[in-house]
Amino acid sequence: MSEARPAGYPAELEEHARLADGTPVFIRPIRPADWRLLQWGFRRLTAEDIHFRFLGGLARLTDETAKRLASVDYRHEIAFLALSDDGPGRRRGIGIVRLMRSEPETAEIALVLLPGWKRRGLGRLLAEKALGWARAHGIRRVMALMLQDNLGMRRLAAELGFHLSRMPDEPALLRADLEL
Ligand SMILES: CC(C)(COP(=O)(O)OP(=O)(O)OC[C@H]1O[C@@H](n2cnc3c(N)ncnc32)[C@H](O)[C@@H]1OP(=O)(O)O)[C@@H](O)C(=O)NCCC(=O)NCCS
Repeated sequence: MSEARPAGYPAELEEHARLADGTPVFIRPIRPADWRLLQWGFRRLTAEDIHFRFLGGLARLTDETAKRLASVDYRHEIAFLALSDDGPGRRRGIGIVRLMRSEPETAEIALVLLPGWKRRGLGRLLAEKALGWARAHGIRRVMALMLQDNLGMRRLAAELGFHLSRMPDEPALLRADLEL
């Protein structure tokens, strides 16, 4: 699945890990060929997942958007895919975290997991992978935007040390900030 490695692909960031319950997962940087995998995953998200991840609605992930999301430069932007680790050739996408620089030392983080993979520590694992990359790449501040009623992301952000604050102009949203 999606094995072609583009120039600049940081293969050293590929990682086999385990959830707290022992379930093996494989985490690796995204590749351009993963765009169809993104569409496959998007079709499996619940309406609430889409609402929370995209801060509102998104009817479908077009080919154009999926290709853009799968093509990162590994410097200003990176995304890590989590795949179920059932052995080579038997991996399925189960989650993704994305980190995008908005300024040289500031980046925004966003993540989403497929149903069945929540509340098992995978969100924290992916977020920590992205924060580790941020630290190693000169990023000093990471922020996230989330809907007020997104209890899972609020809890995860607080556990990771983010400071949560209201946004006066956007009452439905919370902003989370972390100094690295
Ligand atoms: C937000 C999200 C990534 C969290 O991932 P997760 O793997 O479920 O989180 P974790 O299992 O690592 O949990 C981290 C902590 O948050 C808590 N938590 C997670 N979801 C929760 C929920 N719905 N309600 C209350 N607490 C929750 C966990 O219990 C855990 O706390 P603990 O360590 O004290 O047990 C996941 O729920 C998701 O994909 N949501 C939809 C998309 C989304 O909201 N993205 C965020 C946009 S930035």
